[in-house]
Amino acid sequence: MEIRIEHMVHHIGEEAEIKGWLYNKRSSGSIAFLELRDGSGFVQGIVVKNGVSALVWENAEKLTQESSVKVIGKITEHPKKEGIVELQISNIKIVQLAEEYPISKKEHGPDFLLDHRHLWLRSKKQWAIQRVRDVVIQAVYDFYHEQGFIKIDTPIITPNACEGATTLFAIEYFDEGEVYLSQSGQLYLEAAIMSVGRAFDFGPTFRAEKSKTKRHLTEFWMMDAEAAFVEHEESMAIQEAMLCFIVTRCLETCRMEFELLERPIGPLEKIKPSFPRLTYADAIQKLRELGSDIQFGEDLGNDDEGLLTKDSDLPVFIHKWPKSIKPFYMKQDPENPDLVLNNDLIGIEGSGELIGGSEREDNYEKLKAAIEKEGLKGPEYQWYLDLRKYGSVPHSGFGLGLERTVGWICGVEHIRETIPFPRLINRVRP
Ligand code: 4AD
Ligand code: MG
Repeated sequence: MEIRIEHMVHHIGEEAEIKGWLYNKRSSGSIAFLELRDGSGFVQGIVVKNGVSALVWENAEKLTQESSVKVIGKITEHPKKEGIVELQISNIKIVQLAEEYPISKKEHGPDFLLDHRHLWLRSKKQWAIQRVRDVVIQAVYDFYHEQGFIKIDTPIITPNACEGATTLFAIEYFDEGEVYLSQSGQLYLEAAIMSVGRAFDFGPTFRAEKSKTKRHLTEFWMMDAEAAFVEHEESMAIQEAMLCFIVTRCLETCRMEFELLERPIGPLEKIKPSFPRLTYADAIQKLRELGSDIQFGEDLGNDDEGLLTKDSDLPVFIHKWPKSIKPFYMKQDPENPDLVLNNDLIGIEGSGELIGGSEREDNYEKLKAAIEKEGLKGPEYQWYLDLRKYGSVPHSGFGLGLERTVGWICGVEHIRETIPFPRLINRVRP
């Protein structure tokens, strides 16, 4: 019977067929240890020369790294390690004998690995990261559905800019001229919530970012959420609850992955409400006290984000930023017209800005003025302004960067490892 490796623990004593690949091999001349993987996990198979036919032993000897195989054997408990099973192999069928595999156990440089991303994905750590990514995605869906949000798919091809014109990817669109790849589905979600109340999207977004940092991709996945009648403070509470939900889910289901990634889970176990909230003005003051030369009115750099969270066990909200450095759609702070009701959520352990969000300007005239001030063209934003003419309500939303979130949870250095095929300023292949 075919059994997937992840289910083997429930079938001790039974005979199983594993369909997969040879990950690694050790042989002593009379006994061979084949580390097998089938996509669901890794298991050690044992071939004893005297216990199998000559052909099976020959196959075991001949197998090369990443050869595809069908293997039959009996599932036994590991003699020393509790909860670990092994396969006492009786038969090996080679599906394809792999050529010499370019990725070996020796250290490879990042460029070599990225050039071989199509194969690197099979490595244990990369496998674990993609599994965690999948758990995070599912957790996001589950969280929102529990909270009464529905998924709304926003377009990828759009004629307008959401997050500033400098990072747009332009494409020629038939007779329409230049249009762009979406930077965020937010503006469309704002239209959708006036129909469904609470909504989220989750898809690829694009930024022609000139930044070569460990946290910038040109194509990344963003989850935008938006809710009618939700104001600034409540929006931060939703963000906090969502992040706690995601981390809790990962702690419940990704123990094996964290072990493979050598990711200590202590810091994740501390992620509980309430996250500290600091105004932008207080953040600037604190940074200056800590030795940064940042001025009021400037964006936070990587170092500043690191400084603000270095002594914190919890992510930190920085809210109420100067209007001058934030996009047109953010609502003016009624207590100070130079500020907006927005927040960034800065992650711990150097993970940087995980979420950006705000209450949205719901007043027609103020929004129109802000659009014009940013030099954006009227007609493309007319439908967006319409939302403020027909039953405008206070509403808020935010965007979570999937790769930064997964990168932090997995404890990986560069977020390029968290997306199957990373697109960076200098890389579009494979
Ligand atoms: O802060 P951002 O630019 O916010 C928006 O786009 C809003 N329209 C979202 C909304 O309110 N619905 O982006 C949101 C998040 C960031 O906090 C960051 O985690 C991630 O998206 N992000 C990137 N991740 C990887 N590479 C990049 N170049 C990123 N730019 C933003
Ligand atoms: Mg941001």
